[in-house]
Amino acid sequence: MKTKITELFGIKYPFIGGTMMYVTDAKFVSAISEAGGIGILPSAWYKSKESFRDAIKEIKDLTDKPFGVNINLFPMMQPIDNNEYIDVIIEEGVKMVETSGHRAPDDIAARVKPEGIKLTHKCVGVRYARKVESVGVDAVTVVGFENGGATGTLDITTFCLVPAVANAVKIPVIGGGGVSNGEAIFALLALGAEGVIMGTRLLLTEECPIHDNVKKTLLEAKETDTVLVLRPYGNTHRCLITDVTEKVQELEKESAPFEKVYPLIEGAKNEKLVKEADFSGGFLSCGQGIGQIDRILPVKELFDQLAEQVSDAGKRTNEIIGG
Ligand SMILES: Cc1cc2nc3c(=O)[nH]c(=O)nc-3n(C[C@H](O)[C@H](O)[C@H](O)COP(=O)(O)O)c2cc1C
Repeated sequence: MKTKITELFGIKYPFIGGTMMYVTDAKFVSAISEAGGIGILPSAWYKSKESFRDAIKEIKDLTDKPFGVNINLFPMMQPIDNNEYIDVIIEEGVKMVETSGHRAPDDIAARVKPEGIKLTHKCVGVRYARKVESVGVDAVTVVGFENGGATGTLDITTFCLVPAVANAVKIPVIGGGGVSNGEAIFALLALGAEGVIMGTRLLLTEECPIHDNVKKTLLEAKETDTVLVLRPYGNTHRCLITDVTEKVQELEKESAPFEKVYPLIEGAKNEKLVKEADFSGGFLSCGQGIGQIDRILPVKELFDQLAEQVSDAGKRTNEIIGG
């Protein structure tokens, strides 16, 4: 497959492995890159410069394929100095940085662009995409309302967001939110995307380091089994419905202060949930695309299968239009 995104990053498939807090560790990132896409390490997971550098070195030992690092621009309970991560990124020769969050990455662009590092920014609306184009990102990622994780407040579906952004900017667009199969990838490419980002689909891969019982739960989940939480606190997230998300929703209805909600969903509990299948605390980001996933595959097999499905969808479409 050849698109502006495969050319930009030098990768086989235009598939971006969405960064996933507590999930996309060094091994999983390298598996995604080895399979022909590009894996993205979440820097915010690493609490020291040293542990972050170790993770990057581990990826470099495991693959010589391109990989990326996410810089978190969302509000955090314990804010971190992203400049320290950028120092390591430059020193270790990382080729791609993705930012995501509530603001444009002007400061990050000023540091990484002169080093020749490719920069993308993930957002959820046309006006944000235009803004980040103006600060010099190489590509913009947009995810629709159905996506797993942070969804913002505009609530635009992937089907409507991707073509709107593709028409509004000149830089390549990576689209996503709800992509679990090749037909969806074909559709996004037809809508003007040059690449596709996937998070939820990758949770159900062999290399994904979440607990087997979490994978079993996800395999049974349907497209109706996700919910938006944390909107009243300015940090809307789509996640799997659990007892904890129901408790959070009750607190939201009572207009409880965030201090009451935070202990239920703090990072350490989210990490425990994915590692130990302990659903008594934390939440699990998960998109509506979960309903279409019926098997756990190795990442390489998944990507090869997705590419084949894209091609089949193309042939079917050609038959319909008589091309
Ligand atoms: C378990 C999980 C954790 C995620 N963590 C983050 C994160 O820390 N930062 C971020 O920018 N996006 C995060 N995301 C969003 C993904 O990077 C990606 O944009 C999204 O999953 C795409 O939508 P999809 O899940 O419908 O494929 C997460 C998604 C999931 C499913």
